[in-house]
Amino acid sequence: MDLEIDRFGVIVTGASRGLGAAITKAMVAEGASVVAVARSTDDLAVLAASAPERIAPVSCDMRDTEAVENLVGTCLDRFGRVDAVVNNAGIAPAGKFVETDIAIMEEALAVNVIGPAALARSAAKHWIASEEAGVVVNIASLSGLRGKALLSGYSASKGAVVRLTESLAVEWARHNIRVNTIAPGAFQTDAQAAVLDDPATLEARLRKIPLRRMAKPYEIGPLVAYLVSPLSSFVTGSCFVIDGGELARL
Ligand SMILES: NC(=O)c1ccc[n+]([C@@H]2O[C@H](COP(=O)([O-])OP(=O)(O)OC[C@H]3O[C@@H](n4cnc5c(N)ncnc54)[C@H](OP(=O)(O)O)[C@@H]3O)[C@@H](O)[C@H]2O)c1
Repeated sequence: MDLEIDRFGVIVTGASRGLGAAITKAMVAEGASVVAVARSTDDLAVLAASAPERIAPVSCDMRDTEAVENLVGTCLDRFGRVDAVVNNAGIAPAGKFVETDIAIMEEALAVNVIGPAALARSAAKHWIASEEAGVVVNIASLSGLRGKALLSGYSASKGAVVRLTESLAVEWARHNIRVNTIAPGAFQTDAQAAVLDDPATLEARLRKIPLRRMAKPYEIGPLVAYLVSPLSSFVTGSCFVIDGGELARL
């Protein structure tokens, strides 16, 4: 099946490792070009070396909304077009909420909600002005669909991403801009080091997942590719859970 994203220009945030690096590779495998965004320039350089013509590494902190908004111009300059934004960068500070500095929550909201909103807004301004179609894919979490203890700021931010997606999908549908969310369950990335590095914690975690394993990062690629593709042209405002059955379990 041809996903028809050959030559697409795509902005992927949080591309230096984990899901963002996997999403970047999936986009490139389908013929798209990617502005790969994160703060870790060395990791981005390694990723870009795998496809130098098609991956443009850009150092940017998601808390810097002005820099985030400039990413659309960077994608236009580098690849001549911007067709999709994948808001994947995220942080998940853990801890007892009563003992947590409120600044930690503010940072989670800045990286996980405000930055992605600014990037989506900047892309939408371009698509509306140029009368082009566009796609936004926001990476949320199961913790945005159910509140998770010790991850209050994270859960609040990811819940906000799900609602933001719905609002923007409705607001921008008339401009042929589609906005969807993916809610991943447990994926094997650095963000899950505390689980992966402790056998007892890992065993307890796997017991909650009907498929009895965590996903590999590459397993998110096809779903993102589908949502970026014109083949999902009637899909907007939706949230796609990819979790090995975890949310379905009673
Ligand atoms: N792994 C899971 O099981 C899982 C489950 C549910 C949801 N998710 C979500 O999926 C997304 C990716 O997760 P992951 O597991 O791949 O996480 P990860 O391995 O910790 O990678 C996070 C990415 O976000 C970037 N990032 C963090 N803070 C940033 C900032 N201030 N400015 C720019 N970039 C920043 C990091 O790049 P730099 O540090 O280089 O800036 C990195 O590329 C996140 O939104 C996460 O919440 C993951």
